[in-house]
Amino acid sequence: MRHIIHIIAILISITCSSTFSINATHQPKLPPFSCGSSSTPPTRPYLFCDAGLPVRERARDLVSRLTLDEKISQLVDKAAAVPRLGVPYYEWWTEALHGLAFFDEAETGFSFDGVVKAATSFPQNILTASTFDADLWYRIAKVIGREARAMYNEGQANGLTIWSPNINIFRDPRWGRGQETPGEDPLLTAKYAISVVRGLQGDSSEGGALKDGHLQISACCKHFTAYDLERWEGYDRFTFNANVTKQDMADTYQPPFKSCIEDGKASGLMCAYNLVNGVPNCADYDLLTKTARGEWGFDGYIVSDCDAASLIFKKQHYAKSEEEAVADVLKAGMDLNCGTQLANYTNSAVSKGTVSVSDIDRALENLFSVRMRLGLFNGPPSGTYGKLGRADVCAPEHQELALEAARQGIVLLKNERKLLPLSKARKGSLAVIGPNANVSKTLLGDYSGPPCTTVTPLQGLMSYVEDVKFEQGCDTVNCSSADVKRAAELATSADHVVLVMGLDQTQETEYVDRKNLVLPGMQQSLIMSVAKTAKKPVVLVLLCGGPVDVSFAKNEAKIGSILWAGYPGQAGGRAIAEIIFGDYNPGGRLTMTWYPQDFVKIPMVDMRMRADPTSGFPGRTYRFYRGEKVFEFGYGLSYTTYSYKIVSVSQSKFDLKASSSTSDLGYVSVQELGPGSCDKARFSVIVSVKNKGKMAGKHPVLLFLRRTQYGGGVGSPMKQLVGFQPVRTDAKERVTVEFLVSPCEHFSSANDDGEMVIELGDASLVVGDEEHPISINCDKL
Ligand SMILES: *[C@@H]1O[C@H](CO)[C@@H](O)[C@H](O)[C@H]1NC(C)=O
Ligand SMILES: *[C@@H]1O[C@H](CO)[C@@H](O)[C@H](O)[C@H]1NC(C)=O
Ligand SMILES: *[C@@H]1O[C@H](CO)[C@@H](O)[C@H](O)[C@H]1NC(C)=O
Ligand SMILES: *[C@@H]1O[C@H](CO)[C@@H](O)[C@H](O)[C@H]1NC(C)=O
Ligand SMILES: *[C@@H]1O[C@H](CO)[C@@H](O)[C@H](O)[C@H]1NC(C)=O
Repeated sequence: MRHIIHIIAILISITCSSTFSINATHQPKLPPFSCGSSSTPPTRPYLFCDAGLPVRERARDLVSRLTLDEKISQLVDKAAAVPRLGVPYYEWWTEALHGLAFFDEAETGFSFDGVVKAATSFPQNILTASTFDADLWYRIAKVIGREARAMYNEGQANGLTIWSPNINIFRDPRWGRGQETPGEDPLLTAKYAISVVRGLQGDSSEGGALKDGHLQISACCKHFTAYDLERWEGYDRFTFNANVTKQDMADTYQPPFKSCIEDGKASGLMCAYNLVNGVPNCADYDLLTKTARGEWGFDGYIVSDCDAASLIFKKQHYAKSEEEAVADVLKAGMDLNCGTQLANYTNSAVSKGTVSVSDIDRALENLFSVRMRLGLFNGPPSGTYGKLGRADVCAPEHQELALEAARQGIVLLKNERKLLPLSKARKGSLAVIGPNANVSKTLLGDYSGPPCTTVTPLQGLMSYVEDVKFEQGCDTVNCSSADVKRAAELATSADHVVLVMGLDQTQETEYVDRKNLVLPGMQQSLIMSVAKTAKKPVVLVLLCGGPVDVSFAKNEAKIGSILWAGYPGQAGGRAIAEIIFGDYNPGGRLTMTWYPQDFVKIPMVDMRMRADPTSGFPGRTYRFYRGEKVFEFGYGLSYTTYSYKIVSVSQSKFDLKASSSTSDLGYVSVQELGPGSCDKARFSVIVSVKNKGKMAGKHPVLLFLRRTQYGGGVGSPMKQLVGFQPVRTDAKERVTVEFLVSPCEHFSSANDDGEMVIELGDASLVVGDEEHPISINCDKL
């Protein structure tokens, strides 16, 4: 089976790569760089050109040579050239969320009108996350960084500072940008951040391998912090003041950023538009300087989200003048303004004395240090990154990885009476119905560029079945009008029916949150009519980023199977077809809770994670939400069944020793644990996984901690993810996986003061239906 998949994959790669052509006669313009041996003016004698010196020292030397006007011109994303020092124009704003992206209007990022016309378009991140495969995330990011470098070398990029990953928590299912994130869990998002940053920056997957700090490209953790709302009723992201408790901040909103910086070693950080507890993120000294730089050791550059700095006076009325807004952000620790606020008002801020030149110098040293780490002050591109070029963009192995990510991420939500996979031997005729069946753009999701090639679900299915008939069913995805009769007639005449429905960027995207969780317009009634008239139960494929309430389909016997395919990227239609016809065994697992429609009665602006039974607030995400679910976090089926057994737990009773007596309160502070306590408490869990079916497959094994008495005083989650590991098994094969668990890290959550604590008492380790009891006690030292 695996060999067959592999051969098909190779064939696909070959066909794919031939769809974009290389113009061999094209002479690339050289990418901009400083400090070449024959550069004019000759700058090589200056310290900033000496590649042997520490980067900070070089940056300081360069900054010391700039006039005030030159300095100010460097504080914005379109950083001006300084010809007298051989410093070229640099565009800081470059996007590559799931492949190289472009923004025409702002002239940022990559241009695709040169010799390279397209780049590999991976699935939107919410789908890739469902693989729970940190190594896959890393490999994808590494490829994206590689393609970015290649574009820069070809003169088709103005910068190498990429503003991804998006690691905000997918807090509310209506959020239009939830699709960009890896989902709702802080541990998962933290691990995702680390893998992506290491991949993009060219570190090893274990970290610590950046030679002399030299970057493949620079990654940026965004949007710092508690940003997860575009527009809801009278609120929008530009002026929204998120009220966040210390507790939720510490154990939901911040952990991904902490990991992105401490372990990922990201060289960029973006402060978000919104305010948190009354303070604009980009003007928050405690957040940017005390926490990110001080506590977490951040040493890169901090950029504002685009135009965020100009909102502080104009829209948020937090500063009393334009100059005060400049002072607020520079003194808070922001280094770069995406926009023009600092270009326009820094000069007068300096003359009025609200900012000093040393505030500017600090920002510039951070900025030039990153440009130097990118190798842009070492003369013409050389070394491994210097060799990358046109042949490295849309390379066959990159496109194969995009296909692999789609296959591995897709989640099988329902499969009654083993309707799927459909037989390849007895295919018969196939009706494909739905507004998402044949729209290539919809495969990509937001922040995308031109893909190397695309395969829509219809095209994918047509490569398996000769007799395919297609009806769009709805006018558009919003389905304000539907030709139910024609679709139903087509369904009656076919042996099998695949409906391809869901959402697209008109329903959920940047600046567009959904109002409802159900499918738009007449989609549901179309699906039901088709299902009722079809000969056999139908297959429903959903393309969407955020979850939809498809309870109706879950409960309807004539809808036999449901597949969630996110926005699956350039090869998505191929992956969907492979799964439908059994050439790939699906193994993705949801990284967010699918709530019922009823959830929208909760104000989207309520940032609380924890349930509040007295006011009827049900809480958010699998960790705290107590209401009904359509599908839960971690859910997903396969064409085989897996069983789990916890075969050994090296420690089940924890007797912690603490310096003070918080244990009287039913919990112990991690900080107050005696020396070595955290190390001594580390243990290992061995789980045996059996593939009980007839098909090989890959899927992730998820280990959770479940609290026996939920709702105790300290507010620990009902359940929390402790670890995850993808495993491959052959039919009937049994394998074991080992999890290394650190109670201080994996069993802790925050108390009201935002302090990380471990709740004492009984709990269970959970894998699938298997539970293993543990108990946690604490004595005073
Ligand atoms: C190849 O590039 C050259 C130089 O940019 C251009 O003049 C020519 O038209 C291109 N040829 C094709 C086939 O695109
Ligand atoms: C946030 O808190 C402020 C101050 O208490 C209050 O005025 C505002 O209404 C709150 N916002 C939301 C969305 O609850
Ligand atoms: C800066 O000045 C330019 C030119 O006058 C103007 O278009 C732009 O809106 C200004 N930016 C801000 C943030 O005020
Ligand atoms: C599917 O879309 C492709 C690309 O837009 C188009 O060429 C093809 O005709 C469409 N197929 C059908 C059956 O409409
Ligand atoms: C549905 O989409 C069409 C075409 O894009 C648009 O004209 C119409 O206003 C939309 N309807 C709704 C209810 O959003």
